[in-house]
Amino acid sequence: MNDWTPDSWRSKQATQQVSYPDDEALAKVLDEIACLPPLVTSWEVETLKAKLAQAGRGEAFLLQGGDCAESFDDCRADIITAKLKILLQMSLVLVHGTRKPVIRVARMAGQYAKPRSKTTETRNGETLPTYRGDLFNRHGFTSAERIPDPQLMLRGYERAALTLNFIRALADGGFADLHHPEYWKLDFADAAHHGQEYEQIVNSIREAIDFVQVVGGELPGLQRVDFYTSHEALALNYELAQTRKVPRRPGWYNLSTHLPWIGMRTAQVDGAHVEYCRGIRNPIGVKVGPGMSPEWLLELIELLSPEGEPGRLVLIHRLGADAIAEHLPGLIEAVRGTGKPVTWVSDPMHGNTETTAEGIKTRHFDKILSELQQAFEIHASMGSVLGGVHFELTGEDVTECVGGASGLAAADLGRAYRSRVDPRLNYEQSLEMALLIARAARRARG
Ligand code: PEP
Ligand code: CO
Repeated sequence: MNDWTPDSWRSKQATQQVSYPDDEALAKVLDEIACLPPLVTSWEVETLKAKLAQAGRGEAFLLQGGDCAESFDDCRADIITAKLKILLQMSLVLVHGTRKPVIRVARMAGQYAKPRSKTTETRNGETLPTYRGDLFNRHGFTSAERIPDPQLMLRGYERAALTLNFIRALADGGFADLHHPEYWKLDFADAAHHGQEYEQIVNSIREAIDFVQVVGGELPGLQRVDFYTSHEALALNYELAQTRKVPRRPGWYNLSTHLPWIGMRTAQVDGAHVEYCRGIRNPIGVKVGPGMSPEWLLELIELLSPEGEPGRLVLIHRLGADAIAEHLPGLIEAVRGTGKPVTWVSDPMHGNTETTAEGIKTRHFDKILSELQQAFEIHASMGSVLGGVHFELTGEDVTECVGGASGLAAADLGRAYRSRVDPRLNYEQSLEMALLIARAARRARG
């Protein structure tokens, strides 16, 4: 790898970073994190890469989802469990609809740093530095809380470890057992409009399992599932502190997460984030927005995947329901020209954010669905593969996105709006989205 070192990014322009008031305190925290054990292993990272390669070929399907911004306060059993429940329910529906293994990647256990379009926030005439995620500063609206605090990176590492520990225990310990999908029921889920369709899918899977077991005996592997983690690799100091060499494998791994991604605001070809990511061996996600030209994307592919390793590059397009038809075909065509395999994923959230007359950020269910449907159709019509979907969602009963079967309206947004950054699909909207994708997949199979 030409001239790359884990900190060669320091010689490039790093956007979306903060400056800390005390360099010594920062260095101390980073040294401490660098000595702590990694959160994930290179084995898991390589296994995920192989699975993402399958998704790129259409042999598996990626479900990536979670909060826009995880908060330290939400590192709680009930909230983590609710998120796993909805991801499990959605993946079951997607397995049934797509007839493909589903790869579950949570935006969890480290999604604490946020890129922001504005550097300041003004309320009632007072202007303060913007909130940049719990890893950098605090959410409260006082100048003290908005000052970047390096201790938060240590707290973030610890919260990520606590979250991951609980996820691993649940995923291994019977909670995820396919024989017992009733464990994944959420308290308020009976009222959900799509409960019946979901129950039918559960029953048909149960019957299939029973049948196979009667014929062939106990099926291995049904008692547990794999969950992988992902977050935006934004805070480069933090990522560097967890970038490690491992015995018996060449190269460097980011062991803070399985799948780090480069956000739309930090994808400059000559920028620090791309420089950092090009040298690590993890699979790398790249957000592709409407401002990214095919030429720009080709340069990124050359830098990030010079060898064209399958599973290495996950291109997450987030173009917007009104712009995807214009932009996606050219991008697919250009990427095809490289001859390198990539895994295409649709993020139908980030190109469809709107602000209501009251100044509340929201997204319309119909727009999200429309972008997804167009993504499926455009890839299919060009003989390309849409290998997965990327959502901002939660297992809680929040009111952040409008629309869906329950008819959430703009007037409902005040009732339970909890996201600190972008609006998420709530439990019911998430399940409905999965059912609609599965239906489309079944139709496509004929
Ligand atoms: C995000 O995924 O929360 C995000 C900020 O996305 P993007 O970089 O695509 O805007
Ligand atoms: Co977001």
